[in-house]
Formats: sequence, C-alpha cells, structure tokens
Amino acid sequence: MDWRLIGTIDDVPVQGSRCVKNGDTTIAIFRTVDDRIFALEDKCPHKNGPLSQGIVHDGCVTCPLHNWVISLETGMAQGADSGQTAAYPVRIEGRDVYLKLSPKV
Ligand code: FES
Repeated sequence: MDWRLIGTIDDVPVQGSRCVKNGDTTIAIFRTVDDRIFALEDKCPHKNGPLSQGIVHDGCVTCPLHNWVISLETGMAQGADSGQTAAYPVRIEGRDVYLKLSPKV
C-alpha cells in the first residue's frame, strides 16, 4: 500500500544513484553493476554526508566525505566503523522500481 513507483531501473545510472524525496527525507536509490537496486536515506551515519554522491561497489557505497563504507542492503557501516543509516525495501517489477516508504527495521 505504501509502495511508490519511482521510475525504471534505467533512470538510475549504473554504479550511481538518483534521489527521491519523501517529505523532509531524501532517499538515494542505488544501482549496482549487476542491476540490483537498493535504497538508503541520503545521510551517512558518520556526519550526514550525501551517500548519493558516493561510489557504488561490491554491494556497498563509499561516502564521499570521509570514505566510510556503507552496506546498501542494511545501511550498516562496514569494517571498524559503526553506525547505520535507514535502508528502505525496494521491489522490481519488469524494469519498474517500487520503493517502500517505511524503512526496514
Ligand atoms: S560523513 Fe560519511 S564518512 Fe564522514
């Protein structure tokens, strides 16, 4: 019921992202090199850096500010860093991308 059609896979650059707004929250939609789609709040758990401007690799995004590596699946900081940004469920139908507006727990 709260799934929102946000466009197609082709609207998201490979190994890049595109942002959608939900009220005051910006959600970054990421596309991996093998066409998997993930959604995270566009806010690094370190100091709120814009994850949408980071580099996508190996199921993660590297924050452009201080290079923390964040899991696209869970929003968890990897390695020695700790913290978590909100991750949102995404559903693909054909090439259409649906975003659920309530974060995963
Ligand atoms: S704000 Fe993302 S690593 Fe510092």
